[in-house]
Amino acid sequence: MAVFDEQMHAETTRVAYESASDQSPSAQVVVDGDLRFVPLILRERIRQKVTELARIINTEYENLNPILIGVLNGSFIFLADLIREVTIPCEMDFIKISSYEKAMRSSGVVKIKKDFDCQVRGRHILIVEDIVDSGLSIRYLKQKFLAEKPMSLKFMTLFLKSENAEVDFPIDYVGFKIGSGFIIGYGLDHAQRWRNLKDVYVLSSASALDQKEIDLT
Ligand code: IMP
Ligand code: MG
Repeated sequence: MAVFDEQMHAETTRVAYESASDQSPSAQVVVDGDLRFVPLILRERIRQKVTELARIINTEYENLNPILIGVLNGSFIFLADLIREVTIPCEMDFIKISSYEKAMRSSGVVKIKKDFDCQVRGRHILIVEDIVDSGLSIRYLKQKFLAEKPMSLKFMTLFLKSENAEVDFPIDYVGFKIGSGFIIGYGLDHAQRWRNLKDVYVLSSASALDQKEIDLT
């Protein structure tokens, strides 16, 4: 019975994946078990925003040889796209932390899964996040990196759930402010899946109000 269920689940997922990855994403819905995700931000809009953010880095970090530190796993696609639009000398590294495990809410505890390797002392550090939700992760990262005495420490996130985020410091660079609905795609997962989607989708049970709050500036 368990095997049968698993096969059914795999089949549902495969079908949903195929439709989500075809040419007209705005018409598609991603089905994951009982969950339905609807398109929120399409690839072209993301591409424009990533280019905009890279231009800011080019200007603000000229001659500073910054180290961009991606927060795994979620930021891997964002950082890969971002760094290819950066035209000034820069370095990069990754840190892997986890606070979500398999859930849609933070467990409240940040665990280091892979530490950074670079020398932070005296360097200009830019932490690159996929999304800031509760703010727990970046609060933790701020403390951790400040202890290493960087020359400067700033944060960039592609998505910010501005209603949820409790941070007592400004997040320096924000791509999109979104509502509190759970999103997948462009590096973001649900239970480790859907990172490979080129567009960003939101859980459709999120309220309509939530989705309207997206700030496309
Ligand atoms: P925070 O510590 O609550 O700010 O959450 C930060 C991390 O949780 C992000 O870097 C993501 O890895 C994950 N996360 C938060 N919201 C979402 C979401 O809507 N979809 C997927 N992952 C999320
Ligand atoms: Mg993350």
